[in-house]
Amino acid sequence: MKLTTISCLNDLKIKRKKFAVLTAYDFSFAKLFSSEGIEVLLVGDSLGMTLQGHNSTIPVTINDIAYHTSSVRRGAPHALIISDFPFLSYATPQQSFKNAAKLMRAGANMVKLEGGRIWVIETIRMLTERSVSVCGHIGLTPQSINILGKYKVQGFDKKNADIIFENAQAIESAGAQLLILECIPNKLAKIITKTLKIPVIGIGAGNNTDGQILVMYDIFGITDGNIPKFAKNFLSETGDIRAAIRQYISEVKNGNFPSIEHCF
Ligand code: KIV
Repeated sequence: MKLTTISCLNDLKIKRKKFAVLTAYDFSFAKLFSSEGIEVLLVGDSLGMTLQGHNSTIPVTINDIAYHTSSVRRGAPHALIISDFPFLSYATPQQSFKNAAKLMRAGANMVKLEGGRIWVIETIRMLTERSVSVCGHIGLTPQSINILGKYKVQGFDKKNADIIFENAQAIESAGAQLLILECIPNKLAKIITKTLKIPVIGIGAGNNTDGQILVMYDIFGITDGNIPKFAKNFLSETGDIRAAIRQYISEVKNGNFPSIEHCF
């Protein structure tokens, strides 16, 4: 199996070929995803909800992410693994250095952090200058749930759309090598993807981004209650876990997922 690196994703962007990403939290699913062709895995702090049963990502700790990163790495030795910096694990530069080392020693290739404020941009700069590869995450940033009040689409009005666009540019300029856009209108995601040189991955951001990501539980329809508009159950269509993964990859690559019903 070929090793996936950031250069592979840059090449895909240049060739205008789309790629599919999933969250993964354990050895067996990481192995399965990898063997079916998922080349990039995110050990997301969504594990606070999907694995731990919390109603937000806030309780997740750096030790939780490090533990799951090492399991995912053992299952997918060739994948590019992005690991989340959980809530307040990067609030100071010293914290971000220490925690980046922890996640990278556990097997991460890249760390992901939320937001586009000046201090976040500075943190991205400081990390990349110290050889830590960084993925930005803007739009809906779930770690800010207590400020936002509820999970909702961001960037509908011009003022907020402009802020998200400027943040995306600042994140790239600071040295981030990937950017995740969560729950923003298609049109805005399209402009950002076209403007940035780094690959842009969307979740609830339309089908013009370079890559797509979904929380793994959503492609199998395991998520209970409020199913996000952008999610799709590929298992109900295919009736088989492996076929569901392949269907997700193929619909992302041929541009059929997300379709209009999954977009804002
Ligand atoms: O934690 C996570 O799973 C994420 C994705 C939703 C992008 O951040």
